[in-house]
Amino acid sequence: MMHGQYGGIVPELASRAHERLLAPAVESVLRETGIKSTDIDGVAVTYGPGLAGALLVGVAFAKGMASSLSIPLIGVNHLEGHLWSFKLTETDSPLPFLSLIVSGGHTLLVKVNGFGDYVRLGGTRDDAAGELFDKVGRMLGFGFPAGAAMDSAACSFEGEPVVFPRVKLKDDPYGFSFSGLKTAVLYHLQKNYQRNEAGFIIPDQERSAICKGLMESVSDMLADRIAYAVKSNTYHAVVVSGGVSASRFIRQRISSIAKKHQIPMLVPPVHHCTDNGAMIANVGYEHFKRQKFDSLELPINPGLSLFTSPVAPVN
Ligand code: KG4
Ligand code: ZN
Repeated sequence: MMHGQYGGIVPELASRAHERLLAPAVESVLRETGIKSTDIDGVAVTYGPGLAGALLVGVAFAKGMASSLSIPLIGVNHLEGHLWSFKLTETDSPLPFLSLIVSGGHTLLVKVNGFGDYVRLGGTRDDAAGELFDKVGRMLGFGFPAGAAMDSAACSFEGEPVVFPRVKLKDDPYGFSFSGLKTAVLYHLQKNYQRNEAGFIIPDQERSAICKGLMESVSDMLADRIAYAVKSNTYHAVVVSGGVSASRFIRQRISSIAKKHQIPMLVPPVHHCTDNGAMIANVGYEHFKRQKFDSLELPINPGLSLFTSPVAPVN
């Protein structure tokens, strides 16, 4: 991926890649599924939250499809896509459920009473969990994004992990803060390893011990908030989604806490955890059934929230 060499997403490159890849991707989906464009009843598109350039490319393309095929346009919230992604493979939605969305941009706990009925319980004050992995991954010399590689390193390492703190917020039992962990890893590296122009020189085993320690801290913090939530309220399931929920390490930890509290845990298959079009189509279909369509004026909203709209829409 082009962003790898820059250690993160470069907005300009992301929107150009969207422009280049979107039409061929739609064409190949139609070809592979044998669906004709005239069979399409509506087009769902993410209008936020996300990078403005990439959202603009997607929304403009969807508007073009909607108008040329005379079908409804349906704007979907990216986070709502993650929240319901488990429905792509599960028939039941045991309401109310506790939703944990953990991705590169968000770490959010939500009480879900039904479709469109969401109560915010808490979230991160600084970095998202995936952002932490990507930033620490860069210090450790992993490519971008680093989460999956760090997860594999942690899962296959049988030795003792390096111990990092578990951060608790005094006045916010559902809140998270991950930026201190990033600093803790940096101090550990500065104290123990030499640097050259490529970064810290860390033996593979020790790098894996760091990954395991970090995964343990993050999973303990996530599991702690889930345990608090299920003790404070009645939920019929714990649903985890977002790119970080692809982590085998984290899935195991969260599933054991759910088991301990005798609550079913629902996590989508890995390919539905990271960003994907199916989860957007899935929420789009819920809007479609309710005849909730958008006009061709639909603006993008890079700061779109699941709850209200704190950031003014951008046209
Ligand atoms: O949901 P997502 O694909 O995009 C956003 O909406 O942010 O999440 C991407 C994040 C990245 O930070 C990436 O490092 C992390 O998910 N990620 C993982 C794994 N796969 C992706 N983190 C831990 N373990 C994984 N297996
Ligand atoms: Zn996402």
